[in-house]
Amino acid sequence: MDFTGKRILVTGSSRGIGRAVADEFLSSGGRVAINGRTPESTHEGICALGDAAALCTAPGDVGTLAGCRAVVEAAVEGLGGLDILINSAGVGDYAPFAETTEAMWDAAIDVNLKGTFFCSQLALDDLRAARGNIVNIASDAGLIGEAGLSAYCASKGGVVNLTRALAIELAPDVRVNCVCPGYVDTDMVRRDGIEQADDPVAHEQALIDYAPLKRIAHPAEIAKAIAYLASDDAIFVTGAALPIDGGTTAGRG
Ligand SMILES: NC(=O)c1ccc[n+]([C@@H]2O[C@H](COP(=O)([O-])OP(=O)(O)OC[C@H]3O[C@@H](n4cnc5c(N)ncnc54)[C@H](O)[C@@H]3O)[C@@H](O)[C@H]2O)c1
Repeated sequence: MDFTGKRILVTGSSRGIGRAVADEFLSSGGRVAINGRTPESTHEGICALGDAAALCTAPGDVGTLAGCRAVVEAAVEGLGGLDILINSAGVGDYAPFAETTEAMWDAAIDVNLKGTFFCSQLALDDLRAARGNIVNIASDAGLIGEAGLSAYCASKGGVVNLTRALAIELAPDVRVNCVCPGYVDTDMVRRDGIEQADDPVAHEQALIDYAPLKRIAHPAEIAKAIAYLASDDAIFVTGAALPIDGGTTAGRG
């Protein structure tokens, strides 16, 4: 895939899936605005990616409207416009439904759903001018329910159907798609999940067994699918929710 000259904002690209996506675009000729919640985390992402000439910095908290505005404005200014928006910033807390607090609910909805909504709205004029596109990072938890993740499931289900609504409303100017990854080996899953479990080995095995293909995905595998949806190879694809989950949402054995 060739992204030469394309101007791309990837929210949540200081690490994890977002950083892998930024890396994929960079290696295909794109110029990328890097976002983390703070200037420090954004700087870490830029240092890890290396190619400073093709990068610009767009720090900010996408869980607030003001933060979304700061992020999109910095990206548009740094890149001179916008062809592609990847909404990857996200948070996820495991908690039984009965123990889910207002703060956990607000974090999931604000960052995952509201951030996706308002970054897309604020980027719209530039994306329209470029006849560009949006790829949202939803989750398999946006397609099926998962115990212990009720707020996260609600937010990601929202992202899936927001994707469809925008695909209809913004056509034919701007394509809008999402990917629905299963478990991916990032800080969200390993540092904040497996390593916090009472029995990390058993917890990791449970995540491996969750997918029929019997493993946890690598961030680069998700990045490849996102790049496809953002590329001209997917020029007739809009409103799609693409599972990249090793078969988890395909059915029961
Ligand atoms: N890892 C998985 O198994 C998995 C599975 C399905 C979907 N996802 C989704 O993929 C996306 C990326 O997750 P990840 O696994 O790379 O997580 P991660 O924790 O490794 O990285 C999250 C990224 O989002 C950024 N971020 C968090 N809150 C933010 C905020 N308020 N404002 C701006 N940036 C913020 C962080 O700085 C970081 O760059 C998320 O939307 C997540 O829900 C992850």
